[in-house]
Amino acid sequence: MNRRDFLRYTIAGSLAAPRASAALVPGTIRSGQQPAVRNARATTARIDVLPDEPIAMISANLYGHFVEHLGGVVYDGVWVGEGSPIANSGGIRQALVDHMRRLPPGPIRWPGGCFADSYDWRDGIGPRASRPRRTNFWEGEAALAGPGRYDPNHFGTNEFVRFCRLAGGEPYLAANLRSLSPRDLYQWMEYCNSPAGSTTLAEQRAAGGDREPFRVRYWGVGNEAWGCGGNFTPEEYATEYRRFVAWVPRFGQTPSFIGSGPNGGDIGWTRRFLAKLTEKGDGQLGSLWGWALHHYSWNVSRGATTDWNAGKGDALRFSPDEWYELLNEGDRIDTLIADHWAAMGEIDRRRRVKLVVDEWGAWHRSGTEVNPGHVFGQQSTLRDALLAAMTLDTFHRHADKVAMANVAQLVNCLHSLFLADGDRFVPTPTFHVFELYKPHVGGQSVRTVWSAPPIGYARVNADGSLRGVAGSASLHDRALTLTVVNPHISEPLTAEIGVRGRSDGNVTAVTIAEADVHAHNTFDRPEAVRPRAVPAQPMRAGVIVHSFAPASVTRLTVAL
Ligand code: AHR
Repeated sequence: MNRRDFLRYTIAGSLAAPRASAALVPGTIRSGQQPAVRNARATTARIDVLPDEPIAMISANLYGHFVEHLGGVVYDGVWVGEGSPIANSGGIRQALVDHMRRLPPGPIRWPGGCFADSYDWRDGIGPRASRPRRTNFWEGEAALAGPGRYDPNHFGTNEFVRFCRLAGGEPYLAANLRSLSPRDLYQWMEYCNSPAGSTTLAEQRAAGGDREPFRVRYWGVGNEAWGCGGNFTPEEYATEYRRFVAWVPRFGQTPSFIGSGPNGGDIGWTRRFLAKLTEKGDGQLGSLWGWALHHYSWNVSRGATTDWNAGKGDALRFSPDEWYELLNEGDRIDTLIADHWAAMGEIDRRRRVKLVVDEWGAWHRSGTEVNPGHVFGQQSTLRDALLAAMTLDTFHRHADKVAMANVAQLVNCLHSLFLADGDRFVPTPTFHVFELYKPHVGGQSVRTVWSAPPIGYARVNADGSLRGVAGSASLHDRALTLTVVNPHISEPLTAEIGVRGRSDGNVTAVTIAEADVHAHNTFDRPEAVRPRAVPAQPMRAGVIVHSFAPASVTRLTVAL
């Protein structure tokens, strides 16, 4: 089964996600057990930072989130209800808000995902007690058997925008293109953005407690239109896209529309959509602010299968080869960005449209969720932290091409920053990466050159190879932030780091690294993985020498 079929079957409600077996999979190493060192390598790397070669400013938009009505994401994760004994602000989980305020203020995408194309925003406004209960898009998932199958609509547009305000991020609304009309999109815009007292919908918004307009700027026009969002061809979707954006009320602000882009490496989807869109002239590109790209890292079978279910591995139990394969899967985002960007440039010669990677992350098989009702819930280890770090570094290096990115999904789901179950709450190692990387935001991404021996590992019919070091650099006032990932599971990496045109400076270092690569945070051990300050030598004559622990993410801060 491939991902497209998975989504199709899910629409039909016929798929039950398999649960992981309790037994260790072959080749898996137990927590605490030392991984085998597969291949010795030189332990030195060279990193060159070129401060006079700027790429673009690193926006908080690269640190966006994704919240879908799926399993335990909204109900339990974000929304606990106003009457809940769990600490909350107007029904929104307080611990979540408190932690999100420690992160860059990234945009939050809602209500889906596939759910978005079955959602009527009118169901989620007005008095909460009288809102309709609807069948959830994901009702076919076995884990949604029971009350979770029906969405009570208690968390609607007003609640979502209040959550964004509390958490500090801008709202990014995904509109329903598969089962609603352009009128529903522009009236949702009117509900959100028309001035106080102006329209009937503005009055309805005010009756919901929000007199002032929400000023929502980011609007997704459908989701995965090649699959759950309507099973369109790129040409059909381009025609629909033009119709949806042909007229909308602006209320003094230009909306930033985001088109439903490709599944991973489907360059044909990008080319054919843009060709069809511009059949009516290049001016159509002005209505496309962002082009969404989705990339999940899921297949750790190392070439054994491309089956959507069989290819996935366990979130907690994995072999060294599966460690490298997952990181390699994540690292493909670098090529995907470059390839889609090149294809976009064939038509968008003035570069008006940017990439929006609004779903990315690791997708493991189910079985490690903290609550059986949390569809696609999974634990996150140090491996997921490294994948997140490598991905954020890639976005920095492509900050001139990627305008927004949203990790999937915020809480109780795939590659989550948080796990929550009732009154229990814990940040995952990925949360710590987002916080560690915060000083990059607002800085100027600068060009870097990375050189280290690649890491070899075993695939089924060929040798696998992963880059030996990865990272990014940014300049902010008189500070250089350099983040470095050593993906080697068992060997430290000593790097000589040259900062061109600079001389001496103080260096501080903070690292996320644990002796056990399976380390993860639980409700009982919430700080098993956390950042720690480590000693660092100062920069002398523009050179820093630093030794990076095995399987680590490190932030170096250099005073210039
Ligand atoms: O994130 C889970 C699902 O993955 C989303 O709903 C969909 O857009 C994607 O296929």
